[in-house]
Amino acid sequence: MTRVRVEVNGTAVEREVEPRLLLSDFLRHDLGLTGTHVGCEHGVCGACTVLLDGASARSCLMLAVQCDGLSVTTVEGLARNGELHPVQAAFREHHGLQCGFCTAGMVMAAVSLLDELPDPSERDIRLGLEGNLCRCTGYHNIVQAVLAAAGEKP
Ligand code: FES
Ligand code: FES
Repeated sequence: MTRVRVEVNGTAVEREVEPRLLLSDFLRHDLGLTGTHVGCEHGVCGACTVLLDGASARSCLMLAVQCDGLSVTTVEGLARNGELHPVQAAFREHHGLQCGFCTAGMVMAAVSLLDELPDPSERDIRLGLEGNLCRCTGYHNIVQAVLAAAGEKP
């Protein structure tokens, strides 16, 4: 077992974990943060996307021990004082989801994209989210939601 110290959604966490434990399993099974979904488990679908020190990363491709000393943000960490994050609110407003399986990963990828590119074009958004697969929506409303969220940013 190896000791790992990470900040998860603003809270310091310290655990003994097996060195082979995936970050996605650490979040879901050890910490109960099941908002992060696991689809393909090999880096293709993007459902497991979280932020590592603010940048998007696929938690199924990382080991928990690789995050030692880093800050992890999951979808549970986006809302503030009961208010949805602007990207979450825009997904709701613009019907950017159907079954919801991809949604946490889409939202986290969109938050990271808007952080890097605050005023993206539709093409920027489509390129920025091309690593996140959705089997339901056809992507149109997701793109509209991200455009709307960009417009609401201060
Ligand atoms: S579950 Fe991680 S990319 Fe699909
Ligand atoms: S909303 Fe169902 S997979 Fe995207």
